[in-house]
Amino acid sequence: MDDRSAQLKKIKDEIVSLEDSPFYEDRVKNKYFPVIGEGSHTAKLMFVGEAPGETEAKTGRPFVGRAGKLLDKLLAEVGIERKDIYITNIVKDRPPGNRDPLPDEINLYAPFLDRQISIIKPKVIATLGRFSMQYVMNRYGLEWELAPISSLHGKVFDVPSEALAKLGTDIMKVVPLYHPAAAIYNQELLKTLQKDFQVLASMV
Ligand code: URA
Repeated sequence: MDDRSAQLKKIKDEIVSLEDSPFYEDRVKNKYFPVIGEGSHTAKLMFVGEAPGETEAKTGRPFVGRAGKLLDKLLAEVGIERKDIYITNIVKDRPPGNRDPLPDEINLYAPFLDRQISIIKPKVIATLGRFSMQYVMNRYGLEWELAPISSLHGKVFDVPSEALAKLGTDIMKVVPLYHPAAAIYNQELLKTLQKDFQVLASMV
């Protein structure tokens, strides 16, 4: 196993045994899996969603339910293959009833995301939805750019050099996107996402 895969495997093992999580009991009771992330360990493009839904928790794979099918379509339309990217979430277990994650829950899981980012070192992080946008922009020195997702989606933000130095990488851009779940029944939002995916495709 190469070094990146070994480090990512360690993250997986830690999350699997994360008994401190408020979701652990629910995971065991429902025979759910934690959803760690999947894709290329050398991906240039990383997608960060919010938290797994039920289909994801049943399979242990990110974005395989209805929002995932739409993500697949958006990717296919711009010629990006899922095997070439890495897809994960901030929160790695399913919040009961698919409710929004609470700040403490985000804080518990976010260090795993930070480690995944510093291991994979993507050139572009596309955030899906406002939770991952807020977390990633706050964490990587873009907090002063924060605004509602309606004005930031599809824009490209350069991670400042201090944050890059901490990550040990030379370039990283953040592109906030709407969450595909929001576009399932909203044609206007779907068109917006399709346009924003073209921005992404031009970057990788
Ligand atoms: N929504 C998310 O944010 N992540 C998933 O993995 C699935 C749905």
